[in-house]
Amino acid sequence: MGVPSARKSAGKPGPPAASKNVEASRRAYYERISAHDMAPLWEVLRDLVPDEPATQCVPAIWHFKDMRPFVAEAGELITAKEAERRVLVLENPALRGKSRITQTLYAGLQLILPGEIAPAHRHSASAIRFVLDGEGAYTAVEGEKTLMKPGDFVITANWAAHDHGNTSKQPMIWLDVLDLPMINFFEAAFSEHLNRESQAAEREDGDSLARFGSGVLPEGEAPNEIRTPIVNYPYARTRPILERLRRAGDVDRCHGARVRYANPWNGGWATPTMGAHLALLPKGFAGQPYRSTDGAIFVCVEGEGATKLDDETLEWSPGDVFVIPPWLGPPGPGSARHLARGSMRHASYLSPRERSILAEGEDRVRGSRSSTQNSGRAPHSPAGRGGDLRSLGAK
Ligand SMILES: [Fe+2]
Repeated sequence: MGVPSARKSAGKPGPPAASKNVEASRRAYYERISAHDMAPLWEVLRDLVPDEPATQCVPAIWHFKDMRPFVAEAGELITAKEAERRVLVLENPALRGKSRITQTLYAGLQLILPGEIAPAHRHSASAIRFVLDGEGAYTAVEGEKTLMKPGDFVITANWAAHDHGNTSKQPMIWLDVLDLPMINFFEAAFSEHLNRESQAAEREDGDSLARFGSGVLPEGEAPNEIRTPIVNYPYARTRPILERLRRAGDVDRCHGARVRYANPWNGGWATPTMGAHLALLPKGFAGQPYRSTDGAIFVCVEGEGATKLDDETLEWSPGDVFVIPPWLGPPGPGSARHLARGSMRHASYLSPRERSILAEGEDRVRGSRSSTQNSGRAPHSPAGRGGDLRSLGAK
């Protein structure tokens, strides 16, 4: 068998003349085909089809105590009506200027002052919201006006008319997460301003939760099967479920006691593009490392904790927002590990994540196991494509 010419010249400076000729020929060829808007796949194949996901995002944390004064200052500079949405965008440090916290998710802090209204509009991007500070502001979605409280998981489905208002006596700040970068990537962004500033309340607060989130469903067709019909999943209702899981020992070794916000029609994710969990880390919890192909944003609702990455530790407390990029870190051991901090309190967090654009087989969580930690009972497998988080076993 012949030895490649490059091997023959090992140890000598520069490639042999034959190799130089080949390289020169190739470059000349690339230039000629470039004039016809063509390019050689073999030059970019490894970048296009990597062995593992390669993220451009970096982990980052925004502490609420640092963000709050800037958000309040925005309230002095511009009204909600002028801004339409008075929001400070949380930009991933590696993606500055792109209005995104991961490649597919937008996140921002919205401020509504007492008496203000953010006027009604709708758009093809979906939104999920988490109240960080204040109580008593509302979001009206397709005629259902829901009062929002810290920890609530509120959804504005794509193309649903929505407006916000604050009838309380205190400012209110919440986190918006939208799939805007994904919608814009598909060049499928539409938006529309509605003629009226705010929607008339056509349904009672909690109407959609009562109809669809109580273990029964109205007779008839699903209003829209690909996303949840529920507008607000209240923290007051979900938090006790986590306590129940904790008491029963149903604690994932990576994520703690955790539930997934589900579409009641089919058990799928809340929206086609974004999902969310609510997790509770029991006192003293030291999670196993994991990696996930989903990028995720975390919002601390109560308690204190930390997330250890390969080369840094993110310390978090209520109102803090942090992002873990998809498939973070080099191959090998998992690169995110959640820890509960504090001696008396549990830590809980919401984690919206990019979802479902990945086909089955590409959507992998490494490190988490689907079985429970202590109870030994069979897990309740989430249904639908969006729930296919397959365990690869911890490494
Ligand atoms: Fe909006």
